[in-house]
Amino acid sequence: MNHFLDIHKTSPADLRQMIDNAHAMKQARKGQPKGTADTAQPLAGQMVALIFEKPSTRTRVSFDVGVRQLGGQTMVLSGSDMQLGHGETIADTARVLSRYVDLIMIRTFEEETLLEMAEYASVPVINGLTNRTHPCQIMADIVTFEEHRGPITGKKVVWTGDGNNVCASFLHAAGQFGFDFTFTGPAPLDPEREWIDFARAQGVNVEVERDPIKAVAGADLIVTDTWVSMHDPESAKERRHNQLRPYQVNEELMRHANPDALFMHCLPAHRNDEATSEIMDGPHSVVFDEAENRLHAQKAILQWCLGK
Ligand code: CP
Ligand code: NVA
Repeated sequence: MNHFLDIHKTSPADLRQMIDNAHAMKQARKGQPKGTADTAQPLAGQMVALIFEKPSTRTRVSFDVGVRQLGGQTMVLSGSDMQLGHGETIADTARVLSRYVDLIMIRTFEEETLLEMAEYASVPVINGLTNRTHPCQIMADIVTFEEHRGPITGKKVVWTGDGNNVCASFLHAAGQFGFDFTFTGPAPLDPEREWIDFARAQGVNVEVERDPIKAVAGADLIVTDTWVSMHDPESAKERRHNQLRPYQVNEELMRHANPDALFMHCLPAHRNDEATSEIMDGPHSVVFDEAENRLHAQKAILQWCLGK
């Protein structure tokens, strides 16, 4: 079963094939109205369930449009409206949904929910974000980097801010695609040790540097994300803002990276917190390409999951 649960659980060869397919599909659609079907319809006759236990704009819309472009049909479900949110087990939900649909994409809180869904479903399951990881986002980010700068292998990526779920999937990608990764942020918000060890075990250089100016020296890409994620308690907000203020991406920080360094943010952004508007809208930024590439990357993931 081709579940797409995480980047470190998917082989580098399969990841590369998906990225290349995403580039090719994007090229093939250039200039076409968004509502038109792709020439190839590998998902014809397929039904896809998109389950959201947390809010979403990009994941929801890009999966819905992507499935339709590939000829499939979707149903978008909110976790709180399902019996899942009212005590039915994940295992039973997975077995029931597998009788109706050909693939399940789920955005949830605990990683355990995703893993249990995958264990009991008899159809492929895609991780649309958990508290711990966000692999679809980073697949789109690899597509984005490579369309602007060529192969990401051997480049230096710097993550600044909170070592959160998106950062975790970037570390997985560092190991699988072979790029160096530096984390800069306050020690309490370091990425999980397990993910740093994973990337290092693949032979890439992973550094943790508390000084953001030193961290971005030689960077080909600077990435950040919200200072407070959807699963973080509201009470963490003020402390987080104080801890993370020195790690804001602004023009001063960007000046210390390579002159052609790109800037990424998975969005939604809190402008003038984690990144200034000058950076978000400036010449280094590719944030809206990242958002678009969710569509192309996920179409490749869907096809891989369904063996198409
Ligand atoms: N980047 C991302 O996953 O956005 P949404 O929360 O809008 O889906
Ligand atoms: N780290 C953010 C990503 C949102 C797409 C969150 O989990 O809220």
